[in-house]
Amino acid sequence: MARRRLWTWAAAVVVVAAAAAAAAAAGQEKRLLVGMTLVPGAASTGAVCLDGSPPAYHLHRGSGAGARGWLLQFEGGGWCNDAPSCAARAGTRRGSTRLMSKLEVFSGVLSNDPARNPDFYNWNRVKLRYCDGGSFAGDSEFRNGSSVIYMRGQRIWDAIIADLLTKGLAKAEKVSAGAALRLLSRRPSYILPLRQPRGASWGCRHGEMHERRGVFP
Ligand SMILES: *[C@@H]1O[C@H](CO)[C@@H](O)[C@H](O)[C@H]1NC(C)=O
Repeated sequence: MARRRLWTWAAAVVVVAAAAAAAAAAGQEKRLLVGMTLVPGAASTGAVCLDGSPPAYHLHRGSGAGARGWLLQFEGGGWCNDAPSCAARAGTRRGSTRLMSKLEVFSGVLSNDPARNPDFYNWNRVKLRYCDGGSFAGDSEFRNGSSVIYMRGQRIWDAIIADLLTKGLAKAEKVSAGAALRLLSRRPSYILPLRQPRGASWGCRHGEMHERRGVFP
């Protein structure tokens, strides 16, 4: 009798352990890793990171009702202010795609899990890597004989958007670009390449702005 009870307990313990292992495995499966895309041909337009490496993004394709939705998320990471600080940054993952992680975890608004990311899980979701040290805004370079540092944020932005337009952004019906909207409205010329997704509504969600506005004439 005692032995049978022991076996019952042992079986129950095994079942619980198996359930925990399955839950852990499911949790693992939900971690979405997305590979880096180096922007093709970017270097030919001078769109390069601080160290001269090509700019990059990570794209997870949308599907179904979200196939024509695009969410652009910018990687953060502060700024550099002068030649020495930008030169130092060029030798780190903040200034070179060569030194960055090539796989990014897509979680939060980048997740493909409808339970965790009901608004955007099936949109095209893009993480733009930040390597110019000037918030995608600068356009200059520094040379002093021994070193060259590129501050080509504007060109990087242009190159990434041009590449994404060919990958479906041109046919977008809705675009959510977070803090990028501020960047766009500050520099009207940069709205131009984005005119193509005409009629698309640009939204700002989960960002600091919490507003919705169109950038289209
Ligand atoms: C060139 O600039 C870099 C970055 O500021 C600095 O480390 C280096 O010493 C400078 N070289 C010369 C020759 O001025």
